[in-house]
Amino acid sequence: MKQQLENIRIAAEEALKSASSLQDLDNVRVQYLGKKGELTAVLKQMGGLSAEERPVIGQIANEVREQITAEIEARKAEIQAEEQEKQLQNETIDVTLPGKTEALGHKHPLSIVLDEVKEIFLGMGFDVAEGPEVEWDHYNFEALNIPKDHPARDTQDTFYITENMLLRTQTSPVQIRVMEKKEPPIRIIAPGRVYRSDAVDATHSPLFHQIEGLVVDEGITMGDLKGTLETWARKLYGEDTNIRLRPHHFPFTEPSCEIDISCFKCGGVGCPMCKNEGWIEILGGGMVHPKVLENGGVDPEKYSGFAFGIGLERIVMFRFGLDDMRMLYENDMRFLEQF
Ligand code: DAH
Repeated sequence: MKQQLENIRIAAEEALKSASSLQDLDNVRVQYLGKKGELTAVLKQMGGLSAEERPVIGQIANEVREQITAEIEARKAEIQAEEQEKQLQNETIDVTLPGKTEALGHKHPLSIVLDEVKEIFLGMGFDVAEGPEVEWDHYNFEALNIPKDHPARDTQDTFYITENMLLRTQTSPVQIRVMEKKEPPIRIIAPGRVYRSDAVDATHSPLFHQIEGLVVDEGITMGDLKGTLETWARKLYGEDTNIRLRPHHFPFTEPSCEIDISCFKCGGVGCPMCKNEGWIEILGGGMVHPKVLENGGVDPEKYSGFAFGIGLERIVMFRFGLDDMRMLYENDMRFLEQF
């Protein structure tokens, strides 16, 4: 029996040497000292011993148990220290590594230019007005002097919600809404989304943006329109920018014009940007038609006004030299990150 106990001690010692984790240690403890362990099995045979032998073997058994227990504890401390060391090594922070930078978003090119345009007009005393994107036929067409059978409706086919309710094709209806609410003097710009049932291509989209402008007061003339838009164009495209007004027709202005700016790339000599014209068409405008003033509840005998409409995509494309409008809507990060 003595020999058995000695064997257990040696075997346990060996097992502890090769134990490399806390789990291994626990296995050793169970195998040798546990209720069903090898030491317990030996002690169970003690009943068969003589009265002289029993205390001697009992003492040896206790010593073996204490020794194994002590060794387990000692090995446990070692293993814990090793594990801690490993963990410290794994978690070592290299303070010389460059930090992780957070990817910060930024404004979309449409917003960049819109904000600049707003800033310029706010600086000239304009307010920013808004109108609904789902609009009545009345505001979008009728009140703007575009009756049901007017050919101008052909180029502004849109999405109808009911016969008299539609997705607005232009920001011009905001003119009427503002005039209805506010007495002159009126000085507003109204940026926003507009819709047309156009097929998508490099210069068309069923959804795009316009910036409407409206000034109504006593004694407003075409000179005010020209001066205001020239100031705006110079702030946006540079101080040497010139503008020119070409006669045109819009149902809601009389007279109407299209407004070109001198090419900001070549200064007016002609280049691919301006298709060798020296000028780039940038917006439409004119003197608010007396009927439109009346439809907004403004007395055309007392007041006059000018209005204009800017296509935001167009000026963004010129500004950043884009040749395909679809880029502005595709949310391709490789494109957007460049601004
Ligand atoms: N609403 C016009 C369009 O979509 C643009 C426009 C032209 C607006 C002349 C105006 C204006 O206010 O005076 O084509």
